[in-house]
Amino acid sequence: MTDFIQRARDILRTNDRGGYTVPTDRLYPFQWNWDSAFVSMGFAHYDVLRAYRELERLTEGQWADGMIPHIIFHEPSDTYFPGPNVWRTNQKKPTSGISQPPVFGMALKRVHDVANAQGIPDALARTLPLYEAALRWHRWWYAARDPDATGLVALLHPWESGSDNSPAWDVAMARIPTTTHTEVVRKDLGHVDADMRPREEDYRRFIHLVDAYSACSWNPVAQWEAAPFKIADVQTTAILVRSGEAIEQLASLLGRENEADEIAAMNARSRTALLSQWRPELRRFVSRDLSSGQDVQAPTQAGFIPLLALNLNQNMLDAACSEMKLWSEGLVVPFPSAPRNFPGFEAKRYWRGPVWAVINWLLIDGLRRNGRAEMAEDLRKSTIRVIETSGFAEYFDPLTGEGCGGHEFSWTAAAYMELLGGGA
Ligand code: SER
Repeated sequence: MTDFIQRARDILRTNDRGGYTVPTDRLYPFQWNWDSAFVSMGFAHYDVLRAYRELERLTEGQWADGMIPHIIFHEPSDTYFPGPNVWRTNQKKPTSGISQPPVFGMALKRVHDVANAQGIPDALARTLPLYEAALRWHRWWYAARDPDATGLVALLHPWESGSDNSPAWDVAMARIPTTTHTEVVRKDLGHVDADMRPREEDYRRFIHLVDAYSACSWNPVAQWEAAPFKIADVQTTAILVRSGEAIEQLASLLGRENEADEIAAMNARSRTALLSQWRPELRRFVSRDLSSGQDVQAPTQAGFIPLLALNLNQNMLDAACSEMKLWSEGLVVPFPSAPRNFPGFEAKRYWRGPVWAVINWLLIDGLRRNGRAEMAEDLRKSTIRVIETSGFAEYFDPLTGEGCGGHEFSWTAAAYMELLGGGA
């Protein structure tokens, strides 16, 4: 085992809080939804039982309506804002009130396959309740976040995207008042430089939205009616389909043929909807702002994530790959969360330009699916290189390769093991 693999494992051990893994100490002291899904795939490289445990602990926070929330507050901590007293979700297990990208299904299939290959007794029995949780969650996405059955699921809060301060939300967020009922007490700035984090006005708007949905008692129908922020998102939808394909396969393995058909129909509807969001003149996919009915024009990594879920025709694939190469030109490490010629680009500010190892993981998966093995390989190698050079940072400056945000980061450790193992 190399030193770097040892370090990656040490990070997951240090961030273990008893069957679940915090993204990093202090800055994020609870269990985060998509972080944990990536982390479980990291564990699957050397401890498949621990990988199952990560997913099981996440489902402890699942709501009766099927939502798996974006944060599970297993233990109290005063190093993070907003905590359970701001969310006021009234769940037996304290959680946030919104969700996060559904990587869970693809993680579960991976963990199941590894367990099965290793001859773990009762792998299928251990997978079953997690599969059922995943199916309930996928149904929730379509019921609560796509009530008009368009095939594209919508986000009601930027935090639900995982890409909190992405330029994709700028136009929609400008409409959100900066007034809040809840006092905004930034804790993140005690851990990380202010110029690497969302701005003050972003936070005021994030909390305005939390207050608004809390006033709906977190009822999805009431939230959908009241939502001041509603974006049908191609990144989340593509991840939902990628995981949907995984749970469709699990349904068949489990002999749940009716459910496999149900999931296949959801996936097919979303694939058609994603295809309709391709914009040839932009050479990428775009999300739709449901409040204005307008396309989200801002260029972000989300425009290429649909490769995960679609088999593109030759023209689209050539165009998307050329655009990706253009965005990557001259960078120390691709792939940027916004291109550097975009006026809103900021190399170190969270989702406004930086490179995220887990986004590269998803892009690599999508490129391979579409037969672009060479591009995938270049991205895989440069991601490994930047981690070995700059450490297991939360994210990286694409212009310099510098590690930014939090350090000793769980999902970067998981991505390292995944990419080094040749997987994605
Ligand atoms: N990423 C958000 C934060 O920074 C919450 O999910 O707190």
